[in-house]
Amino acid sequence: MDPWRHTTVLLNEAVDALSADSFTKPDQTYVDATFGRGGHSRLILSRLDPAGRLIAFDKDPEAVAVANAIGDPRFSIRHEGFSALRELPGSSVAGVLLDLGVSSPQIDNPARGFSFRGDGPLDMRMDTTRGESVADWLATADAGQIAEVIREYGEERFAVQIAKAIVARRQERGPLATTTELAQLVAGAVKTREPGQDPATRTFQALRIFINAELEELQQALEASLDILQTNGRLVVISFHSLEDRIVKQFIARHSREVFDRRAPFALPKPMKLKALDRIKPTAEEIAANPRARSAIMRVAERTGV
Ligand SMILES: C[S@@+](CC[C@H](N)C(=O)[O-])C[C@H]1O[C@@H](n2cnc3c(N)ncnc32)[C@H](O)[C@@H]1O
Repeated sequence: MDPWRHTTVLLNEAVDALSADSFTKPDQTYVDATFGRGGHSRLILSRLDPAGRLIAFDKDPEAVAVANAIGDPRFSIRHEGFSALRELPGSSVAGVLLDLGVSSPQIDNPARGFSFRGDGPLDMRMDTTRGESVADWLATADAGQIAEVIREYGEERFAVQIAKAIVARRQERGPLATTTELAQLVAGAVKTREPGQDPATRTFQALRIFINAELEELQQALEASLDILQTNGRLVVISFHSLEDRIVKQFIARHSREVFDRRAPFALPKPMKLKALDRIKPTAEEIAANPRARSAIMRVAERTGV
């Protein structure tokens, strides 16, 4: 029995956006690249007819265990990063959904080490069956590498000070092992606090993005979606912070902008692979009911026939 809950963000909006006119193609194959606890997946399945298929992905073994209990012959789950979307056959999919970032069970369970609010091992891996934990990485990385990660992925002004404090502490008392140890150390190194924000917020976000290679995976999944989506297939991406949303926005813009060849001014513009359709944010009611939805931005694009 799974004790953790996840409230799905933009549930109807995302599923509606996956198919023109609300599932005019119920016999096609769809992808939920971030199963989580299956909120979106269950609604998609309810809209498919017996010939439809839903392929889900999640890196997290706990999410995969929930998915394995679904027991619907139209549904399958793959325990791997969504960059593996590229392995699906070309033009085989009518819609791809990515609901990025972490699930509430990952943040709320202190044993996963994602949150500075509970005390737990400094892990932060979505896939606990492989790869290096944050504690392992911080035990050997040098101050320059640590500062770069915290600056790049956390947009943290005090990245250098935090990195130096981590290395100094490692030399004096051994490596950091818990979320509380890291949160306290960061609080000591961050000089000015942003109102309403824990001083460790940016550092935890940065380490999580880095250790899970989140932005690289996203870039690869977006590129793969161009190959696997059919003509008129939909790409729906929900992001939760500006680094992710920037990648999605620039990707859609790059593939939906008409490109003229300056050397051939009278030639037709280069055909576009995507048509940008929508940018949607949760309503005030949704945010009031689920504060974790507040930073969500959903972008929708459609694959053209090119
Ligand atoms: C915000 S939750 C998705 C919630 C889901 N839509 C629901 O309604 O329950 C994000 C999920 O995506 C997974 N995830 C994040 N990045 C991933 C990646 N690169 N590959 C596979 N799964 C990933 C996480 O493990 C997490 O379970």
